[in-house]
Amino acid sequence: MSIRTATFNGVATIEIARPEKKNALTGAMYRAMADALVAAKEDAAVRAVLITGQPGIFTSGNDIEDFMQRPPGSDESPAIVFMKALMGCDKPVVAAVTGAAIGIGTTMLLHCDFVFVSDEARLAMPFVSLGLVPEFASSLIVPQLMGNARAAEKLLLGDPFSGADAVEMGIANAVLPAAEVAPHARRIAERFNTLPPGAVRETKQLMRRYRAGAAEEAIRVESGVFAARLQSPEAKEAFGAFFQKRKPDFSKF
Ligand code: COA
Repeated sequence: MSIRTATFNGVATIEIARPEKKNALTGAMYRAMADALVAAKEDAAVRAVLITGQPGIFTSGNDIEDFMQRPPGSDESPAIVFMKALMGCDKPVVAAVTGAAIGIGTTMLLHCDFVFVSDEARLAMPFVSLGLVPEFASSLIVPQLMGNARAAEKLLLGDPFSGADAVEMGIANAVLPAAEVAPHARRIAERFNTLPPGAVRETKQLMRRYRAGAAEEAIRVESGVFAARLQSPEAKEAFGAFFQKRKPDFSKF
């Protein structure tokens, strides 16, 4: 299992732990994270959730081999189940971005309440370079957060950006030296041990109330296009190039 979970001092930690594949997320890992989020929601002893990765890597996004072998195609696909669990978590979710965060590694941050990023981290949403389209409501939320001009750099060109950029654009709270990211994120999560949980829960729900419906609709529409794109010759060329460690050739399309 490449997801480790533990609950300590009111904080349920979900640690992505597959460093040999740069923490790429498989279906089993999405399911494990979804289960952990649901368990955290139901456990009265949990006041906050902490999502973290490994030194130098938060996650390289969806496992590309899994994409090819088990393409998501329904509401029951593990990635969608994870998205729903994260959006449905009514306790504060704190992300410790310990390194690169790619694809869903960045888009999941749009659904966390606090995001702390290492000064070495690079974030990116390179869906187009893979012949794909944005997911996890990023086609809606990214332009809302940073405006169309900068969203086009991130989503159409797939330009990577730094933790400082993420703070400036409202995706992250702070950039910290790599070794301090996880301890600081835990300290923030533990602050919820001294706050009234009912008021915290209701406030989180109120803060997300207007966005929730639109985000669900965006995920539904994105997922249909995404599933079709996965079968496209463009995506097949991109995935093949990734595993052959060569540059993709889109000149023939
Ligand atoms: N899916 C499947 N395998 C992945 C992966 C992914 N998303 N990301 C990395 N890996 C694998 C590599 O294939 C490699 O496996 P190997 O050792 O069997 O050859 C291993 O993890 C190490 O990756 P590597 O690319 O050699 O590490 P790096 O330090 O040079 O680069 C990244 C790290 C994260 C920048 C690079 O791996 C990358 O760009 N990954 C793909 C990111 C992506 O496009 N994600 C999907 C977004 S939708």
